[in-house]
Amino acid sequence: MAILVTGGAGYIGSVTAELLSEAGAPVVVLDNLSRGHRESVGGDVPFYQGSIDDQALVKRLVRDHKIDSCIHFAAYAYVGESVAQPSLYFETNVRKGIALLDALRDSGVRNLVFSSSCATYGEPRSIPISESHPQWPTNPYGWSKLFMERILDAYDRAYGLRFVSLRYFNAAGASKRHGEIHDPETHLIPLVLAAARGKTRFVSVFGNDYPTPDGTAIRDYIHVLDLGRAHILSLDYLERGGRSEFINLGTGHGYSVMEVINAARAVTGLSIETRAEPRRPGDPSRLIADSQKAGEVLGWQPAHSDLLAIIGTAWEWCSANPEGYRGS
Ligand SMILES: NC(=O)c1ccc[n+]([C@@H]2O[C@H](COP(=O)([O-])OP(=O)(O)OC[C@H]3O[C@@H](n4cnc5c(N)ncnc54)[C@H](O)[C@@H]3O)[C@@H](O)[C@H]2O)c1
Repeated sequence: MAILVTGGAGYIGSVTAELLSEAGAPVVVLDNLSRGHRESVGGDVPFYQGSIDDQALVKRLVRDHKIDSCIHFAAYAYVGESVAQPSLYFETNVRKGIALLDALRDSGVRNLVFSSSCATYGEPRSIPISESHPQWPTNPYGWSKLFMERILDAYDRAYGLRFVSLRYFNAAGASKRHGEIHDPETHLIPLVLAAARGKTRFVSVFGNDYPTPDGTAIRDYIHVLDLGRAHILSLDYLERGGRSEFINLGTGHGYSVMEVINAARAVTGLSIETRAEPRRPGDPSRLIADSQKAGEVLGWQPAHSDLLAIIGTAWEWCSANPEGYRGS
């Protein structure tokens, strides 16, 4: 039986598809390439360019490839864009997400792993953030993920679609073959490395007056290889008959923006210019996961998420692919 990976031409999806293929699991990728890269899908992986709401296509894929489970990465994921264009986010992440779930349900697919986000929690009331922390997102992107979580819960109760909803904190790092390329890029580590390579003149540091030791915001960075492995463990868990769950994926340890920049200076041996900018509205001072549940339910522990390892793999990948996938 095969696994449908939606958004498998994107950053986290491509790494997860790579890990699944290495483990010998048959994978089928569905991606409309609106934000992904055809080159990031392995040559031996069946690839279909299409949208998750093309129900006829999804049903055909399930039938032709004997798909029995799905990892659903496909979504739009820019917080700022979601504030400016909420309709695009509810349309893509929610309306099209429901169309996908309906096609899967009608085709008899019963297990799903969903890419959720720490953005569903909104402004943290306590740190570390456990799965029982109240969820009140501060932007439409976070709401789109929370809506999908509620929809999944209802679909489980009504239709028996079992799921693991993984609430990622900050994905970072690279595998040997796949790394992070977004256009525009908004994530700190690729932006820091772009400044190191001279692609940009400096890194903006948004806020240096937070109540943190060095005044810059603290985030929980998780290696994309650790994320990918958590998806495989989630599928195993569902196949063993596990019940639906919401699970954080973070390390339980945070690094400040300046700690990340200093680590990147150490890894690259290059000076990286910074520019102080005002805080961005809605950016909390700290976001750190309580990641105990992932260990208890899935048997998952981060193995690659040391900051130097994260930055080291990202640096190797972008040094080997200076033009991104266009150069491959
Ligand atoms: N990167 C992070 O730190 C992070 C954190 C929390 C949650 N997430 C979630 O994880 C998932 C993957 O994130 P990513 O960073 O790999 O994003 P990405 O943009 O690199 O990948 C998303 C992929 O989905 C595809 N896609 C979008 N709409 C589609 C549609 N209608 N039909 C088919 N394909 C479509 C895009 O072309 C792209 O290849 C997203 O759902 C995102 O919200 C990411």
